[in-house]
Amino acid sequence: MEPDDPSAVRRLLLVGFMGSGKSTVGRLLARRLGWTFLDIDEVVASREGRSVARIIADDGEPYFRRLEHDATMEQSEQDRVVIATGGGWPVVPGRLEALGAGAASVWLDVPVEELVTRLAGSEAVRPLLREGTSEARIRSLLERRRSFYRRATVTVDGSGAPEEVTERILDAIPGLRGPRDAHPTQERLS
Ligand code: S3P
Repeated sequence: MEPDDPSAVRRLLLVGFMGSGKSTVGRLLARRLGWTFLDIDEVVASREGRSVARIIADDGEPYFRRLEHDATMEQSEQDRVVIATGGGWPVVPGRLEALGAGAASVWLDVPVEELVTRLAGSEAVRPLLREGTSEARIRSLLERRRSFYRRATVTVDGSGAPEEVTERILDAIPGLRGPRDAHPTQERLS
């Protein structure tokens, strides 16, 4: 793919459940591509001067959702950017489909058992899980969201080490790997 090809992917949005690795993998991926990394939760929290948990506790989830959507839409106008979206952002009909040309969305699909392990003890910092991180709770929320996440441009296995997940994304989206990036090394990621 030529660099000025208008159909080339110029921005990537990582979507998926809490704990699926959007921020960790997003940072690695951005570094790998030489692109900017943005975490929408961080953008919103910094604009508001308080954490996402505090915003939701003080002003409610609908208020947070508006801020989250506005921030995601603004930031996704940039080029050469990897964006870690919040886990609830794509869970509205038409959200992913409305992303314009040049954007690709990636669902980091992580088995529920691995999510349960990753999310254990995070009740205080994850408002959507304040009632608990039991497998039943995580499974039921994930089941309600799965059909939305599935609409992403590509689905990538998000289990295992973030470096491996990063490689899977580079493999899954045509044109992301430059000719000199065909043989990744662990070293380059560190
Ligand atoms: C949420 C996920 C969180 C954050 C908020 C709501 C969700 O982001 O946006 O607590 O609805 O799944 P992460 O997916 O980065 O944890």
